[in-house]
Amino acid sequence: MVRKAVLPVAGLGTRFLPATKAVPKEMMPLVDRPAIQYIVEECARAGLDDVLLVTSTGKSAIEDHFDRRVDLEAALAEKGKDEELAAVRDLAELAQVHSVRQGEPLGLGHAVLMAAGHVTADESFAVLLGDDIVDPDEPFLERMIEAHERTGRPVVALMEVPHDQVHLYGVADVEPGEADGEFRIRRLVEKPSADEAPSNLIIVGRYVLPGTIFDVLRDTPPGRGDEIQLTDALQTLAADEPIVGIRLDAERYDTGDKLGFVKATVQLAAARDDIGPDFLTWLRGWLAEQQG
Ligand code: UTP
Repeated sequence: MVRKAVLPVAGLGTRFLPATKAVPKEMMPLVDRPAIQYIVEECARAGLDDVLLVTSTGKSAIEDHFDRRVDLEAALAEKGKDEELAAVRDLAELAQVHSVRQGEPLGLGHAVLMAAGHVTADESFAVLLGDDIVDPDEPFLERMIEAHERTGRPVVALMEVPHDQVHLYGVADVEPGEADGEFRIRRLVEKPSADEAPSNLIIVGRYVLPGTIFDVLRDTPPGRGDEIQLTDALQTLAADEPIVGIRLDAERYDTGDKLGFVKATVQLAAARDDIGPDFLTWLRGWLAEQQG
C-alpha cells in the first residue's frame, strides 16, 4: 500500500523572480491557499498521510505552513473566528509533514534520492511536483496508485501537448496499456524535435515509484543541465521492462510559469463557491469593456 509522498521543493524558482527571492514559489497564493497546500490536500485525498518535503535554504515558510501555530489559534478562538480557526488547525492535520534538505540543487533525481532515508527500498511512494496543480475534483493520483498496485511498475503522469511544443518536455514512446488512457512506456526522449518525437505525450509532475528507484538514481550520472534527472533513472527502468503512463485528461496548471500561474488563479477563483460567482460577473464585465 502506498502511504508516503515526496514533494521536491528545493528548486530556485528562477522563472518567478523577483517574487521568489525571499518567498518560496510554493508559497505563492492561488486565491487564499499557497500552491503547496493544494498538493498536500491532493495527497491527503489519495490516502497519503506521510509527506516528505525535500527543501533547501529559504524554504522554511513551507514547513511553518503545515505546523501548528498556537498563538494564532488562541487569538482566533478568543475573537470567536471559528471558521478561520478551523482552516488553520485542519491544515496541521492534513498529513504528517516531514522535511529533509537537498543541500545543493543537483536536479530532480537528486532531490528524490534525498528521500532514501525516509522511504525504504521495499516501499513504494508518490512524487508530486509543487509546480503542477491538478484539478482538485479529479482523483488522478488515486488512479496512478491503483495502476502501480495492479502492475507493480513505476507509473508516470502523461499529458497531450500540441506537436510544436514537444521539444520543451520529456516525451514518452508509448504502446496501449491495460485500460483506456493507460500506456506501456519503453522509452523516454528528453526534449526531442517535433520530427523525432515518438508521441505528443509529455511527462508531467506526478509519479508513483518503487523504492528500488533509489539504487538506480545512485547509479545515474548527471544528464541534461549537469543535473541528476529522474527521467534518466526512469529510462533505465523502462529499458528493462515497460513502465506505465496514465494520461491526465483533466485540467492541470503549471504554476511555476507566470502565465500558468495567472491562468490557475483565474480558474481556481472561478470554481470557488464563495467568490466564484462575483468574480465571474466582474470578469465578464471587464472583458466586455476591453472588447468594446
Ligand atoms: P523546476 O525545473 O521547475 O526548477 O523543478 P525550479 O528551480 O523549481 O524553477 P525554475 O525553473 O528555476 O523557475 C521542478 C521541480 O523539481 C524541484 C523543484 O522545486 C520543482 O518542484 N527540484 C528541482 C528540486 O527539488 N531540486 C532540484 O535540484 C531541482
